[in-house]
Amino acid sequence: MYLNDEEKSMLNGEKGEIIQKCMKVLVTLGDIYGAKRMLEINSVHSPGVSYRVTGDAGLNYVKEASAQACFVVPTTLNNVGLDMHNWEAVGFDPEFAHKQIELSQAYKDMGAVMSNSCTPYLYGNIPMLGEHVAWGESSAIAFVNSVLGARTNREGGPTALAAAITGRVPEYGLHLDENRKGTCLFKVNVELTSDADYASLGYYAGAIAGKGIPVFTGIKKRPTTESLKALSAAVASSGAVALFHIVGITPEAPTIEAVIDKDVEVYTFGAEEYAKAFEKFNYSGDVDFVVFGCPHASIQEIILIASLLKGKKVKAETWVCTSHQIKDLAAQMDCLGILENAGVTIMCDTCPVLCPTLDRGYKNVVTNSGKMAHYVRGLWNVKSRLAQIEDCIKAAVNGRLE
Ligand code: F3S
Repeated sequence: MYLNDEEKSMLNGEKGEIIQKCMKVLVTLGDIYGAKRMLEINSVHSPGVSYRVTGDAGLNYVKEASAQACFVVPTTLNNVGLDMHNWEAVGFDPEFAHKQIELSQAYKDMGAVMSNSCTPYLYGNIPMLGEHVAWGESSAIAFVNSVLGARTNREGGPTALAAAITGRVPEYGLHLDENRKGTCLFKVNVELTSDADYASLGYYAGAIAGKGIPVFTGIKKRPTTESLKALSAAVASSGAVALFHIVGITPEAPTIEAVIDKDVEVYTFGAEEYAKAFEKFNYSGDVDFVVFGCPHASIQEIILIASLLKGKKVKAETWVCTSHQIKDLAAQMDCLGILENAGVTIMCDTCPVLCPTLDRGYKNVVTNSGKMAHYVRGLWNVKSRLAQIEDCIKAAVNGRLE
């Protein structure tokens, strides 16, 4: 692989041991995938920052890096393993909490933005069309590639760390034009009106597309940011989709021809497929846990949830997962008070998937997120229901959903 003088000096160890280690990781990766050169990147979104994921081995590696290097590009952090400001009140294990705080401090010392959220594109880390970045977290990867049109491969914790320290990634995969074309086409024949509808489309298409690039046609009404966030999360949870296109809507797909240049399989997403997608998560009955904010809730979602819950009390334990930035906004708009009066927990920095289970014996979970409906079943061995936001509110208030 071609390396310029600066990259050579990083690889030779002239800039320090940890920078050399990071460059070796990236060069090895580039060699495996046939990269011809390195790319300079403009931002990193780092996954693998929950102590639940890293354990002690990861913690020690990050501390070693932190003692020797700083991040050279803006770097936001994904969800950590607890609510950093409220962990005692919520009941997290202190031993786990202290390990998480140690890990987060090591990232902070390197210059990370302590966003602790899977939706950094809602506040601050917003790459532009064609920018090269190094992002992790499957839903954020799908969003940044598809909706913003920036370019990233699926980075894990170690490669994101290496990219943040060197400001480089090898040029392969989704950084290249030729690898950003559609591999299957979905004709959407049903009107999608809610985030849960987009989640169902994503869940259906992701299972078929696998690691491919689905292209959607027939979506006439421009989806909201929240719907695109729901689609990004779902398509990357039933499958491993890192990029999708919506013809006439996402920036690289003004026409079908712009994103499909060969014969591909064609599928229909009509009323039958729509019903089937929801059927997979069709639990009904008593509900003990309702979760919103997967991916982390936007201020618009919080306003909507607060308006639906105003003056009510929840019977089922109910979480709204979001970032501290959005929680602060919600407080300024009086939404926070409404939610707290209703008995809702605003869970910042984390989510049920990335924090250690606060073992409350949940059995039946309702959510408006396809990704959460998918993951909680495996993680907690519970029954789950994917529902429209209004039905999630009914489940929260009544402790039951038919
Ligand atoms: Fe984000 Fe956790 Fe969902 S990381 S996408 S809230 S599973």
